[in-house]
Amino acid sequence: MRETVIVIDFGGQYNQLVARRVREAGVYCEIYSYKTDIEKIKEMNPKGIILTGGPNSCYEEDSPTYTKELFELGIPVLGLCYGAQLMQHILGGKVEKAPVREYGKTETSFDVNSKLFTDIEGVSTTWMSHFDYIKEAAPGFKVVAHTKDCPVAAAEDEERKLYAIQFHPEVLHTQYGKEILSNYVYNVCECKGDWKMDTFVEESIKAIRDKVGNGKVLLALSGGVDSSVAAGLLSKAIGKQLTCVFVDHGLLRKNEGDEVEEIFGPNGNYDLNFVRVNAQQRYYDKLSGVSEPENKRKIIGEEFIRIFEEEANKIGAVDFLAQGTIYPDVVESGLGGESAVIKSHHNVGGLPDTVDFKEIIEPLRDLFKDEVRKAGLELGLPEYLVFRQPFPGPGLGVRIVGEVTEDKVRIVQDADFIYREEVDNALKVYKEENGEEADWKPDQYFAALTNMQSVGVMGDERTYDFAVCLRAVKTVDFMTAESSEIPYEVLNKVMTRIINEVKGVNRVMYDLTSKPPGTIEME
Ligand code: XMP
Repeated sequence: MRETVIVIDFGGQYNQLVARRVREAGVYCEIYSYKTDIEKIKEMNPKGIILTGGPNSCYEEDSPTYTKELFELGIPVLGLCYGAQLMQHILGGKVEKAPVREYGKTETSFDVNSKLFTDIEGVSTTWMSHFDYIKEAAPGFKVVAHTKDCPVAAAEDEERKLYAIQFHPEVLHTQYGKEILSNYVYNVCECKGDWKMDTFVEESIKAIRDKVGNGKVLLALSGGVDSSVAAGLLSKAIGKQLTCVFVDHGLLRKNEGDEVEEIFGPNGNYDLNFVRVNAQQRYYDKLSGVSEPENKRKIIGEEFIRIFEEEANKIGAVDFLAQGTIYPDVVESGLGGESAVIKSHHNVGGLPDTVDFKEIIEPLRDLFKDEVRKAGLELGLPEYLVFRQPFPGPGLGVRIVGEVTEDKVRIVQDADFIYREEVDNALKVYKEENGEEADWKPDQYFAALTNMQSVGVMGDERTYDFAVCLRAVKTVDFMTAESSEIPYEVLNKVMTRIINEVKGVNRVMYDLTSKPPGTIEME
């Protein structure tokens, strides 16, 4: 049995971050809603329990709460922000609206004799975000941190192993946040730290073998990080019992189809059956004359399902259909956490209805994205694939505004290739010269094609060509984003190269719009 720390989610915005930080410290961590029954929590026999922040006031009637029994199990409990207030409120402390709202980086004094605060400085910065505060700690608790406006920034009852902290250690702005969470899992919960990606890969290979036996597995491989890592893992576990179907819909980035084939095809390093379907023309035909974004998405998604079904039916019945589902998908689909994350248009196809399979297998279901990447490296996948930026399922279909044609695909592929090449190059040079990443380093960047044509002049000729739009955003969660301040000379060079090298373009623009009100993709 793997050591597990459980996060009980009260709807705060950093809940997945808490679980990620615990895992980074080397301990497996799962998120459950505060509506989860205590009997279920007991069955899991966790090494520790963390209560998260949340938007409510714990003393109001309908606010999320939890049974007092949780604090009597003898399992160490750490309450963060709302979780801290709730713990104090339930156990007899005083929580009320604070006279001064604390928000942002806050100087905090610590009692470094606390097991939570060993090996950190006595005074350091924490990240605060609260309207309510703990005015008086509950009986039996000792105050172990305070700020100018917050008399109880942390309180503990060492004997009962209960810890309440008002600030957010999971946020990077808390100077010693990492150390505090690590102190919690090692000093308080006495974990050994058995969550490591090499062990995960080894154990998963065994688990997949046990589950699949001699069965056949079918996987839709898109070339994205998740399905590629799933393919690598399944291949290591069951070799040729795995068939990967890769549909090249003609809306991939330049050379991407061939790169996927190089890695997973017959000349690649993985033992599996690889089927590449060159469906480019089929997609261009279906998309001809269609310019409404939702229609385009629908056609691209549905066509994928039809092609996948056709290929699957050629292969015949399989025992398992594999999917690259990852942990945030599980949490966000409401099975785990409570935080209000809204993603409407991201699941392109859904499940095929005529593929004959008995069960679904999801080998990455427990992993966060950064863990998927680490597993990918363990499995020997190339870095450029493992650290690939997000790419939407409908591909360039949502980066070509209006009707998709083969020629427009060529334009956007070529422009995007130049743009990424120049940005990557500038980032590399910056890092070599400065020894650190450029602060403008975007989290996602690509070229899109507007459906605007305008007049230009090239040589002595009048042109009437397309405008390419460059997009680059900085974002933490892709739910909000800001445009990245790419240096002017980089943009200028990209512009010159695109105009000179990509036929059919006579204007290049840079998109400054943040999200909201814009979205990251054009459609
Ligand atoms: P938007 O455009 O909604 O994009 O601001 C947010 C993030 O999601 C990606 N994205 C998609 N991913 N299927 C996907 O798998 C989609 O249909 C899709 N649409 C957008 C987008 O690239 C960005 O990272």
